Amino acid sequence: MKVISCLNDPGLGESVAKIMNVDLIRISSKKFPDGELYVRVRENLNGEDVVVLQTTYPNQNESLTELYFTIDSLRSYKLHKLVVIVPYLAYMRQDKRFLMGESLSAKVVINILNMLNIDYFITVDIHNDHCLKWFKCKAINIHAAPLLANYFREKVSKPIILSPDMGSLSRAIEAANTLKADYDFLIKIRDRVTGSIQVKPKEIDVAGRDVIIIDDIISTGGTIINAATMLRKLGVNKLFVGCTHPLLVNNALEKILQTKVDEIVGSNSVRSAISKVQLQEEIAKSIKKII
Ligand code: R5P
Repeated sequence: MKVISCLNDPGLGESVAKIMNVDLIRISSKKFPDGELYVRVRENLNGEDVVVLQTTYPNQNESLTELYFTIDSLRSYKLHKLVVIVPYLAYMRQDKRFLMGESLSAKVVINILNMLNIDYFITVDIHNDHCLKWFKCKAINIHAAPLLANYFREKVSKPIILSPDMGSLSRAIEAANTLKADYDFLIKIRDRVTGSIQVKPKEIDVAGRDVIIIDDIISTGGTIINAATMLRKLGVNKLFVGCTHPLLVNNALEKILQTKVDEIVGSNSVRSAISKVQLQEEIAKSIKKII
């Protein structure tokens, strides 16, 4: 087996190759003067099981293009099995046509991957599980909530786990099960045109309690800022935030910390200042199950 690390891989290729004790290959890539991308995999991979690792933030469009070209370049060889791992898969939030005339971007991205004939696809906390059904190959979705919960285990006492909206409730429940804790969810309303967020006040008995908010993505931080501000008003004790994909656009982290969150942590599905929860062991376990 060989692991191929694409340019935006946040170091997971190297860690996974180490755990599995296999060679790591880096792609050769360059940009033509007009901006077009060139990708080549030089090693002869005939007969090999190959794992390709790439993430898709930052630079979603370029990362995806590089991933498509890398997978296609492998068609030069007769591989045994091809496993593609993208811990953060961009565009998955547009998993419906919310407004007339919109693109169903999540399906477009998955359909392009389908055209490239992958044997297995592994991701982490895809935004909505129903997108997994669009893959033609077997698609595996690793859940980071138990890892995030374990990160906070020693820092909290009888916590309540909250999801900032209904969409992340299953993640909050998984984290709550891990810590044998209570859980609940908040009600978020997003304006589909402006993108602005409002977390509705909710009668929820959190005064004096330790709270962990669990979400899949932190992008602008708007969701967490709204939730944290409301929870502080309700008199919570310690307030922690765990997210799988800490995109942290612009100064999202600083703005969240201003809400007096005690700590915020993310996984290393993308690089960030808070990517402390490590996914490599879970990824290696998933690979071992299929190869
Ligand atoms: C939305 O459905 C997601 O689960 C996240 O809550 C959202 O993407 C976070 O975005 P932002 O940080 O911009 O509020």
